[in-house]
Amino acid sequence: MSQLIINRNENLYGPAPKVLETIHNFDAINVSRYQEGYYNSPLAKKISAQFAIPEEQVIIFYGLEDFFRNLFSGLDKKQDSILVNQWHFAYFKKYADFLQIKFLEFKLIENETDFSFDIDDCLKIYNEQKPKILILTSPNNPTGNVLPFAELEKVLNNISLDTLFILDEAYFGYEQNYQLEKYLALLAKYPNLMLVRTFSKYYALAGLRIGFALAGKKAKEMINYQHRYLGFSTILENIALAALDSESYYEEIAQKIIKERDWFINQVRTLKNFKIFNSQTNFVLLRVNEKIIDKLKEQIAKEEFVIALFLKDNMMRVSSGLPEHNQKFLALLKNIDNL
Ligand SMILES: Cc1ncc(COP(=O)(O)O)c(C=O)c1O
Repeated sequence: MSQLIINRNENLYGPAPKVLETIHNFDAINVSRYQEGYYNSPLAKKISAQFAIPEEQVIIFYGLEDFFRNLFSGLDKKQDSILVNQWHFAYFKKYADFLQIKFLEFKLIENETDFSFDIDDCLKIYNEQKPKILILTSPNNPTGNVLPFAELEKVLNNISLDTLFILDEAYFGYEQNYQLEKYLALLAKYPNLMLVRTFSKYYALAGLRIGFALAGKKAKEMINYQHRYLGFSTILENIALAALDSESYYEEIAQKIIKERDWFINQVRTLKNFKIFNSQTNFVLLRVNEKIIDKLKEQIAKEEFVIALFLKDNMMRVSSGLPEHNQKFLALLKNIDNL
C-alpha cells in the first residue's frame, strides 16, 4: 500500500478556482518566451500595489527555500553568523551547516499551553555574537506560537541596522488579530527588516514554489539580491496573480482550517497521554507520553495516510488536513490513549 504523505503543512483544500482556470488556460506556446522586458515582473507590480510598497522593495523567488539558499550562500563563513530561535524550520540549520556558517539559537520557552520566544536570550546572544542575520518565524514552525508585536519592536529597537532582520511569515493567514498595516509601517521605520512570505501554505501552491519578500530599503541592499534579469517564470507569475485575486476563497478556507485545528486541540486535551500546544498555524505540536510513543509510531506506519511528523523530545507535529483526515487521526490517538 502506498501511503499518502501529508505531514508537511500543505493546504489540502487546494487552490482557488481562478488559479485552476489560469493553469488550464495558460497558452502553452508562451513557455518559449521570457517575461517581456528585463527585470520585469507583473507579480512584483501587483504585490507593490497591494501592500503599498515601492516595487523595488518587492522581491519574488522560487519559494522561501530558494530565498534562504541564496541568502545564506552570500555569507562569509569566516566572519558571518545566523541567529534563529530554537525549534525552527529544519532547513535553516541543514543549509547553514552545509555551508559551514556559524549557526546560533536562542531559547523558546515552553509554557503550559503554548511556547513563547525568549527575547531576552535573543538579545543577549545577539549582543555577544553580533550575527549578520537574525531570523524569527511568526507563527513559528513547528511550535505554532506567534511573536507578539511589542516583542518584535523590542528586538528591532535593540539591534544594529547592520544586521538583517528577517521575519518569516510562511504561515501568515492563520493568526488571529494579525494587523498587516502595523507590520508594513515597520518597514519604513526599520530599513534592515524584511517580511518574507510564501504561496505554499495559505495559497495552497506548495508544489509550484513561489514566494516573495517585502524588504526595507537597506535590507534590499544588504542581501545584494538581484531582481531576476531575465524575469521570473511567466506561468508562475500568472498563477500567483490569480491567487492574489482570490482573497475571499482563501479567507474562507483559512477559517475552516482554524476551526478544525482548534477542534482538534480541544479534543486532544481530553486525552491523557498527550500534551498539545496552542497554534496559530495550519498544524499543531504535541508531546507524546514516552510510554506509548513506539506503539503510536507503529500504528501510524500502518495507516493509509501520514499526517504526523515525529521530532526530538517526543514531540509530534500534526498538519491540519481535511476534516476526514483530522477525525481519523484523532480516532487513532484515542485508541492508543485507551490501551
Ligand atoms: C517556517 C518556514 N519557512 C519556510 C518554508 C519553506 O517554504 P517554501 O515552500 O516557500 O519553500 C517552510 C516550509 O514548510 C516553513 O515552515
